[in-house]
This record gives sequence, C-alpha cells and structure tokens, in this order.
Amino acid sequence: MTEIVQEQGQQDSPCVMVIFGASGDLTKRKLIPALCNLAKGRLLSQQFAVIGFSYDSMTTEAFRAQLSKDIKEFASEPVDSKLWDWFLERIYYVQGDFQDSAAYQKLKVQIAAAEKAHSTQGNRFFYLAVSPKFFAPVAQQLGQAGLTEEADGKWARVIVEKPFGRDLDSAKELNRELKKILDEHQIYRIDHYLGKETVQNLMVFRFANSIAEPLWNRNFIDSVQITAAETVGVEQRGGYYETSGALRDMVPNHLFQLLSLTAMEPPISFDADAVRDKQAEILHAVQVPKPEDVMSMAVRGQYGQGATGAERLPAYRTEPMVSAASNTETYAALRLEIDNWRWAGVPFYLRTGKRLSRRTTEIAIQFRRSPFVLFRNTKIADLQTNRLVIHIQPDEGISLRFGAKVPGAVMQLGLVSMEFDYARDFGRSHSTGYERLLHDCMIGDATLFQRADMVEAGWRVIQPVLDVWQATPAKQFPNYAAGTWGPAEADELLARDGRAWRKIEEGQPSSAAVPAAVGRATAGVQ
Ligand code: BG6
Repeated sequence: MTEIVQEQGQQDSPCVMVIFGASGDLTKRKLIPALCNLAKGRLLSQQFAVIGFSYDSMTTEAFRAQLSKDIKEFASEPVDSKLWDWFLERIYYVQGDFQDSAAYQKLKVQIAAAEKAHSTQGNRFFYLAVSPKFFAPVAQQLGQAGLTEEADGKWARVIVEKPFGRDLDSAKELNRELKKILDEHQIYRIDHYLGKETVQNLMVFRFANSIAEPLWNRNFIDSVQITAAETVGVEQRGGYYETSGALRDMVPNHLFQLLSLTAMEPPISFDADAVRDKQAEILHAVQVPKPEDVMSMAVRGQYGQGATGAERLPAYRTEPMVSAASNTETYAALRLEIDNWRWAGVPFYLRTGKRLSRRTTEIAIQFRRSPFVLFRNTKIADLQTNRLVIHIQPDEGISLRFGAKVPGAVMQLGLVSMEFDYARDFGRSHSTGYERLLHDCMIGDATLFQRADMVEAGWRVIQPVLDVWQATPAKQFPNYAAGTWGPAEADELLARDGRAWRKIEEGQPSSAAVPAAVGRATAGVQ
C-alpha cells in the first residue's frame, strides 16, 4: 500500500480567467476539463469565473451549450451534473478581434460584471491560446485597456503558450515586447511538459531520496539519453510544422525541461526562483555547438512512406499542407555536453521525432560499468548493467535495471529490473496535465513556468544547429521510413562514442511484465 508522507496545504485564490482563442481546441480538450478537475478536487475558488474571448461570433448561451457538449466528449471521466451546473453559471463569452481596442473595452465591461457577480476580488489572468503572432499585440491591448495593472493587492497575470519565438532573436524580441507591458513576475510562459506528473516527480525522486544524489554525477553516470518519440505524423498541423520542424517544436522547450530537471543542482528551496535559477544555470552550462561541429553532433531526419502492421503510413511530403519538396525535419537527435563540475565528459543524447515506432517519452540514465575483475570473460556491452529509466509517458514510472546471478550451477549474469508504476501504486490519474499549471498560476507559483532567461538560454544552444541546417538543406530526405526508429545517422551518432540508443521495447514499467532475466550474459567464473 502507498503511504502518503506529506501533503501540501490546499489553497485557492479568487479570480477571473480570460481565455483568448476560446473557440479553439485547447479550451475544450484541456482547459475546461482541467478546471472541472480542479473544482472537483476543491482547488478552484468558489469566487471564480471564466470568460472566453475569440473572433467567432457566439453568445454566452451558445458558448455554454457548446462546452456542455464538449465536456462529455473530452472529460476523462463524467463530470458530476451539480458541479457542471455550478461551473456553467460562471462561464461567459466575448466576441472580438484580438487587434481591435474596442473589443477590449467590451471585455473590460464583462470582466467587471463577472467580478461583481462572483466576488473575484479584482484578480485576473489571461490565457493566450492564440497564434504566436498575437502574443505581443494581445498583451499590448490588455495593457492599453488597463487590464494588466496590479494595485491594492490585486494581481494580473498572462499565460503565454509555446512556441515562444522561433529562434534566439525572435524570443528576445518577444520578451522585450511583453516586458514593456508586464513585469516578469506577471508572465507565465507555459510548457505543458511541466504539467506531467513524472516530470514533476524528477525533482522529488532526485532530492527526496538520499540514495540518488550521491550517484548523480560523472563519477557514476556514463551517459544520459532523453527520448520523446511519437507515433503520430503531423496530422492536420502541416502548415505550422512546415515553419517549425522537430528541433524547434520539441527541443528548446520540452526536451530542455527534461534535461535541466535531470541535470540541475539541488535548489535551496522549492521557491520558484530557487528552482529556476538552478535550471537556468544548467541551460547556460550546456556547450553551444560550434558551426563546424553541427554536422557531427546533430542528426536530422524526415519520414518517408512506411507501415505499422497492415496500416500504410504516408510520407511527410504527402501530408496535408506540406510541400512536396519539403526540407523540414520530422526527427532530430543531438549530442550535448554540460560544462560543469558534475557533468563534464558525460554526453547527453536527445532525440525526438514523429512517426517513430513507439510513443514513448523517457529519460534513461546509464551508469558506468562495474570493474572487470570478476567478469573477465563477459562482453563489455553485457556489463552495462545499471540503468535507471524514468518513464514519462505513456506508462509513468521508474525502473532500475541491475545484474543478478541466474540460478544454476554455473555463474551466469542476468539483467533484472525493479519497477515503480504510478498507476499501480497511486491509482490511475484523470488529470489533463493542465490542472497543476492553472492552479499554480492562480496562486502565483511560477516554479513550473519558464523565465525569460531560461527560454533564451535554450534557443542559444540550438541556434547554431538551426543556422547550419538552414544553410545546408538536407539532400537525403526522406531518410527514415514511417514506423521505424529514425535515420541510421542517429545510430551512428552514438556508435561513434561506442554506445547505442536504448531499445525502447525492452523494460517498460510493470504493466508489461519484465522477464526475470533478460539479455543473459555469461560471466567468467574465476
Ligand atoms: C507539442 C508539439 O508542444 O507537444 C507537438 O507542438 C507534439 O508537435 C506535442 O506532438 C507532444 O506533447 P505530448 O504531451 O503528447 O508528448
């Protein structure tokens, strides 16, 4: 049985939430179900209201009716009808153009009415679920309408979705624009990876367990692999993806969050800035590749036609809204090094891609092999016994592989695994991944949001790769078949270091039972 050893005090804060782009997918799929989950968990203030703002012409009644339909489809478990009625009464809609100042006057009137009706005490936050080109204009309009002012203990915050810029210069420019209107403490740059339980658990695993930290350094760790593999293609997002590519879409944000939480020094507290200072420090310590090294430390790929089982999978270049001659990468792998005392000489391999063989996000920590002495006749690869894998999705858990003697008269080394499985030990979660992030914004805890310097540090690292790739279009695309593990060059990236990517099929958390001994190796009996 799982013992809960510490529970944080429950908090909530009266406020109005305004969703820009409320008629889009994010609202119905994630934000509204997440708010319902918060209400159910008594983490949403009774003094709360939500206003949808978008270009689509709709009344409050029509918006409520639409959401009442959507919630049935998108909530992961049925929402109690009493709770939904309570929630519905505090939902409003304002139609308007994001660039039209008159629309912000309408919004202001609606906010004032909601504040009065639900006693939200003048606190408000704005969720920008809009195209990135509107981030700065919406913030400017909010500022001009006087909606971002904080006075007499009232707060005003803005959540900005990704992508935050498309390179280092545009990210800096966006930071400058936002900071003309908002103070840094009002800007919540969201990265939905930080809403994932297992990602948050990284800090707990590292810093609440005294067995982890002494081993967490170059003396014991050989290398780290971070994988975010998807089986889906670009779906209907070809238009966006053509301007982005796998590197921009996943690496400076999601993968760097995983990297910084894995590699950061222990913070002095869980205060937002204490944690983010340490994350930023790591991002600043990642070696920025020299242009001449890009081709040897980075690999790009694009999927061609392929298949999974009987299903035929189309090539990227034939996806909707994708150019037939597209040079956009759908796969990226990097070898990075962190220049600090803890990690010098430990490579961090990152890979991400669409249409790969399996949907998995994980961090694999490979420990150094044990000294030879007792196992002189064993192949070196078989002595890579200790590996800790933090499974982020779809299975959530942690597994630790170690060597054990296979029962019998001869000395044989078996590789076995100890497993922690979130669903088994804590029950299955119905979370959308946005609950914690929305709640944190409401209570003013920015720990899980990106600070300006972190965003810029991330772009700084990948900028040379973006530049070199743009200057030298890939000649060999497509270079991997949909449904496989990516281009052969990605294997070569590790093979050059005498390493290989972890075979993901092996060693999932206990939902897939792990055989008692896998990869049996015979150890020399002395
Ligand atoms: C988004 C990317 O930020 O993250 C998508 O734009 C990607 O391309 C998605 O599919 C992956 O998120 P998750 O939570 O499914 O791993």
